[in-house]
Amino acid sequence: MAPKTVSIVGSGNWGSAIAKIVGNNVQQRNDVFSTIINMYMYEEMVDGKKLTEIVNMQHENIKYLPGVKLPENVIAVPDILEATTNADILIFVLPHQFVQKICEQLKGKIKSSAIAVSLIKGFAINEKGIQLISHQISEILSIPCCVLSGANLAGEVANEQFCETTIGSKNEDTGELLRQLFETPYFRCAVVQDTDTVEVCGALKNVVAIGAGIVDGMGSGDNTKAAVQRLGLMEMIKFAEIFFPGSKTSTFFESCGIADLVATCHGGRNRLLGENVVKSDKTIHELEKEILKGQSFQGPLVAKEIYGMLKDKDMLSRFPLFVAIHLICDRKMDTKEFISCLRNHPEHM
Ligand SMILES: NC(=O)c1ccc[n+]([C@@H]2O[C@H](COP(=O)([O-])OP(=O)(O)OC[C@H]3O[C@@H](n4cnc5c(N)ncnc54)[C@H](O)[C@@H]3O)[C@@H](O)[C@H]2O)c1
Repeated sequence: MAPKTVSIVGSGNWGSAIAKIVGNNVQQRNDVFSTIINMYMYEEMVDGKKLTEIVNMQHENIKYLPGVKLPENVIAVPDILEATTNADILIFVLPHQFVQKICEQLKGKIKSSAIAVSLIKGFAINEKGIQLISHQISEILSIPCCVLSGANLAGEVANEQFCETTIGSKNEDTGELLRQLFETPYFRCAVVQDTDTVEVCGALKNVVAIGAGIVDGMGSGDNTKAAVQRLGLMEMIKFAEIFFPGSKTSTFFESCGIADLVATCHGGRNRLLGENVVKSDKTIHELEKEILKGQSFQGPLVAKEIYGMLKDKDMLSRFPLFVAIHLICDRKMDTKEFISCLRNHPEHM
């Protein structure tokens, strides 16, 4: 079999960290994969220079993953079609709000035999209501799309600190191929077939993490934060059961489930946002600009999307934690009311 060509679509914090792993792996497994990897990079100017040129000269994404060297076989490409035309495996790793536009540009221009894998955490919202990003990619491009999600804060992965991840692939051979592409001694991959649940966990944990940040911002202790995580997990499981029938409870015990939830509630940017929502009166947009300088918070977008969906289906009262987090982010609920939401949660009734 000819070696498979891999392209990465996205080059932010996680895209760059994964480029380091995949760039090294394809060199070691050059019987299976081609060694040159094109990485689509949304062009922007940094210190008066194009970011793609900086990355290709310095082999470092100085804006989104400073201090980490990328393998020299990873080439930053600003043109999405040039970056992907020859790809057999397309790794999607960009904020979910940009996926539709990028996929529309790729429609009919990629190999029909290609497969995709989405590392994106979030949902798409369209006329069908909530749609999984892997389904959106698969539908627009008419190719299968697997998922990879886990307790994987990009900076720690880039620094080679041990962690686990979950690959969701309905096809066993594809799951094994992706394991060979992503696995390293510090990045252990488990493959499951319950792909939808893997992805649902990755989107919803960002909402729960804002709740963890809210209780941090209020000065509550670890017990309260653990309660947020437990009640959040119960809402995640219930959400998957209702909206993605066939979801397996065992998947919530993989890295994509409980491990990612705990990691994000302690270290991620959405937790930081929750803390700042309590400590300042600024809007989410202002906080995003101030704290993230170009990156984006996924949690508030997902919270807003699921709020709309639950409202339409008259299910707001069954998911009080998700609802309160959206209303607090939208400045329609006082942060002080968050504890009574936990106290009166249906899990306690
Ligand atoms: N950062 C993490 O630790 C981490 C870990 C696991 C999964 N994820 C998920 O990976 C996905 C990507 O996150 P990230 O952290 O790499 O992103 P990021 O927030 O670091 O970077 C934003 C990226 O979007 C690009 N961009 C900006 N405007 C754009 C546009 N109009 N069109 C296309 N691209 C545009 C920027 O150039 C940049 O590459 C998200 O779904 C996130 O939830 C992130």
